[in-house]
Amino acid sequence: MFDALKNQDPEIYNALINEEKRQVTGMELIASENYVSPAVLEALGTVFTNKYSEGYPGKRYYGGQEYTDVVETLAIERAKQLFGAEHANVQPHSGAPANIAVYSALLEPGDTVMGMDLSHGGHLTHGHPVTYMAHIYNFVRYKMKDIETGEIDFDEMLAVAKREKPKLILAGFSAYPRELDYAKFRAIADEVGAYCMMDMAHIAGLIAGKQLKNPVDFGFDVVTSTTHKTLRGPRGGLILCKKELAQKIDKAVFPGFQGGPHMNNTTAKAVAFAEALKPEFQEYAAQVIRNAKVLSETLMELGCKLITNGTDNHMMLMDTITSFGCSGQQVETALDEVGITLNKNMIANDTRPPMDPSGIRLGTPAITTRGMKEEEMKKIAAWMVDTAHHVDDHDRLRQLKKEVTALCTRFPVPGIDSNVIHTENF
Ligand SMILES: Cc1ncc(COP(=O)(O)O)c(C=O)c1O
Repeated sequence: MFDALKNQDPEIYNALINEEKRQVTGMELIASENYVSPAVLEALGTVFTNKYSEGYPGKRYYGGQEYTDVVETLAIERAKQLFGAEHANVQPHSGAPANIAVYSALLEPGDTVMGMDLSHGGHLTHGHPVTYMAHIYNFVRYKMKDIETGEIDFDEMLAVAKREKPKLILAGFSAYPRELDYAKFRAIADEVGAYCMMDMAHIAGLIAGKQLKNPVDFGFDVVTSTTHKTLRGPRGGLILCKKELAQKIDKAVFPGFQGGPHMNNTTAKAVAFAEALKPEFQEYAAQVIRNAKVLSETLMELGCKLITNGTDNHMMLMDTITSFGCSGQQVETALDEVGITLNKNMIANDTRPPMDPSGIRLGTPAITTRGMKEEEMKKIAAWMVDTAHHVDDHDRLRQLKKEVTALCTRFPVPGIDSNVIHTENF
């Protein structure tokens, strides 16, 4: 494989082979990552990357669109079917551009958006002061009422919404382990005359796999997503909306915000959506949640403090200061040493800085794709706790790494020939 690359550009080839080995031998617990199928990977590396196709199927600015139109139309129709949506735009290059395109479609500069507080789980694009969007729009916040259960404070949310009159109320998160009460979001948006939007980037695959509720069914005006997390497609963005907003959204994506769509990505999105429509994907999504439940319960049995004391989805957040007296950064670094990858994360009302916060975030989408089940989750929990108790004991960490690698090599990564670990560079 990769013969042309190997001959022409050995430096890049070596980095690629080393990354393949890292993925095969390591335990991927980053909640936003996954492994795409061989078919999705093939679709990404095709000559569709050569084609400019500004515009939409049937209305393009350049010629030669017979086959790009086939691909984009299939991607749109499959996305609509998957989520029961009236309209889909499959061109956003990623999740952040999808959200920004929606803001620009529905809002004027200076308008108010109400989103989840960042330290309670909201994403950067939901109005973090470091983002450009925070200079354009006025972001106001809602939070959890009770961090032991994760319940959103809807009374406070309604009071703030009545006072601040947001034009858009935004549900969605990148660090929140519970399911949202979509009917309450819709009701508050209706009461103050706001658009209602969900950013389902993290849980799109669990919704597509029919394991979590679908915001489209609750009358949300717009639903955005990434395609590369639980949905297990290529890196990319997706916008679903009601028919009456379709023109505004499409115009905002192109020409408003982006240039030519990345047609190789659109092709791979179409392939991933078809995979997610299959019954096997529902079984995958169910296993992601079962694995997360067992992993979280085992961690708690071993003395870990999880935010909201468990999970309803694929992810969990751990307070590492309370659990081990170590910061999230210390635990992340020690776990890296044993080949378990996850990320440090702020926890609700964190008093520590973002680069050295009080917690970590982890999730089960990637390891479930490799075929790991409940039995492996118990082992992983034990390794994590052992690691966190030995952050400075490098002999112990080396021993743990051997055990982690031995387990990982038993579970192939789709799209990677597992002989890669025997090649000359290893
Ligand atoms: C909820 C949410 N929205 C948007 C994004 C941004 O997606 P991307 O990194 O593809 O721009 C993320 C990524 O982590 C996310 O978690």
